[in-house]
Amino acid sequence: MTEPAATYDLIVIGAGPGGYVAAIRAAQLGLKTACVEKMPTLGGTCLNIGCIPSKALLHASERFEEAGHSLAAFGIKVAGVELDLPGMMGHKDKVVKANTDGVDFLFKKNKIDRLLGTARFTAKDRIEVEGKSYAAKNFVIATGSDSTPLKGVEVDETRIVTSTGALSLPEVPKHLVVIGGGVIGLELGSVWSRLGAKVTVVEFLDRILPTNDGEVSKQMQRILTKQGMAFKLGSKVTSATKTDTGVTLTVEPAKGGDAETIEADVVLLSIGRRPYTDGLGLDAAGVELDERGRVKTDRHFRTNVEGIYAIGDVIAGPMLAHKAEDEGVAVAEILAGQAGHVNYDAIPSVVYTWPEVASVGRSEEELKQAGVAYKAGKFPFLANGKARAMNATDGFVKVLADAKTDRVLGVHIIGAEAGILIAECVLAMEFGASAEDIARTCHAHPTLSEAVKEAALAVDGRAIHI
Ligand code: FAD
Ligand code: NAI
Repeated sequence: MTEPAATYDLIVIGAGPGGYVAAIRAAQLGLKTACVEKMPTLGGTCLNIGCIPSKALLHASERFEEAGHSLAAFGIKVAGVELDLPGMMGHKDKVVKANTDGVDFLFKKNKIDRLLGTARFTAKDRIEVEGKSYAAKNFVIATGSDSTPLKGVEVDETRIVTSTGALSLPEVPKHLVVIGGGVIGLELGSVWSRLGAKVTVVEFLDRILPTNDGEVSKQMQRILTKQGMAFKLGSKVTSATKTDTGVTLTVEPAKGGDAETIEADVVLLSIGRRPYTDGLGLDAAGVELDERGRVKTDRHFRTNVEGIYAIGDVIAGPMLAHKAEDEGVAVAEILAGQAGHVNYDAIPSVVYTWPEVASVGRSEEELKQAGVAYKAGKFPFLANGKARAMNATDGFVKVLADAKTDRVLGVHIIGAEAGILIAECVLAMEFGASAEDIARTCHAHPTLSEAVKEAALAVDGRAIHI
């Protein structure tokens, strides 16, 4: 075996939110650390082609919609609102650069060696990057995920795009067909709908956002329909053929029946993401995958090979940036001899549509299926003073608590700023709080957060304002 170009305590493979956070925490704890990344910029999917650019476009398109349609209700007349798409894309690019440069700065500050290129295991304690060999006592695989393909729908990132292409369309499509009514479909569908596209979402199941609480999914569909989006539920796309002017899609009922064709200018394929381990040489290291292609780990992020760990989208669990980050911190602390830990029962998830959807813990469907006796308290934003002042009365807060102990088991919010409101519910769950604890906590007036307090009061039939 060739001599390694360098030897480290830890080499992290992948500089997404899982990998870069693991590298920073390990360096803080005194480990000699390197991080390999094949993209020219740091930050992974999240910073380059995921969370950050999508939120930049969601925020900007929301302001565009507001200026064009919603401000009049506040007595503000705005004339001549025009879309400057290159300007909006420029905003997105600037935000991405500021964030990826920020990680670069943090790597330098923490003296982390950045290795540019694709890492491939050549043995269980060696990787090769751009023809050079590196050794380490420990490795963390944080190679993330990529878009799941669909037979008959060939992505070219121009007319048939994944989220990556949908973040950079050069013009607003007349008709955007979205395959998959999950998080990406609804977020990026909302962006292009606000900018003027007709958007049709084709979803295989009989509801959108199928992993969310059922009541939330139904309300979301009603609200997005009111905003102009169209939904074809219980339907599957069996082919997408490019024509001179666009794409012809064949759509069939999921349970069988007659096929129909739909014409689109652009098609967004968003039917989920799959773990990414291409070219990583896991065979050479002997690392096992599970039945869904994820790197198999135990609760301490250990793979079956001593000294090789894995975190983030490439292992089991929700594919979320904050989950990957928390695992990054935990694995670094474990490697430094501390007791790193992630509480998977209290990981929030947020859909950044308007209004937002946010949840933590279990849904009513999950509790019913598990046979857990629970009580539900619900409060609509229609009865919240601040929501009325904001003209944001769509949605509700639902608190689910154990019928016997009153311990909070789940919170589901659809409404303005739901992503911020969920934070106190996550904290409550982290501390094992009861609905009564939230209900007795003083919430400032007038704020949207009073709806959380009222929903907690409603668990015991004591809401004041409804
Ligand atoms: P990644 O961020 O995917 O990073 C993995 C990195 O590893 C990549 O940079 C890749 O280039 C690199 N890599 C892979 N193989 C190798 C190799 N062999 N050698 C070197 N480098 C390699 N999550 C949220 O929580 N909130 C959101 O709002 C949100 N929005 C999203 C929007 C979109 C459009 C998408 C696609 C995803 C979104 N996500 C969001 C999900 C989030 O991006 C992921 O959960 C998160 O990025 C996972 O982090 P990770 O570190 O595991 O992997
Ligand atoms: P998703 O899992 O959220 O949704 C995929 C949808 O496609 C589901 O509703 C599913 O039933 C449907 N589907 C599957 N096969 C289909 C088919 N053949 N035809 C029609 N519909 C089909 O996946 P998505 O939206 O691609 O996002 C991937 C992941 O990225 C998310 O699960 C999430 O983990 C992450 N993400 C998180 C965001 C956030 O936190 N705000 C934003 C964007 C992505």
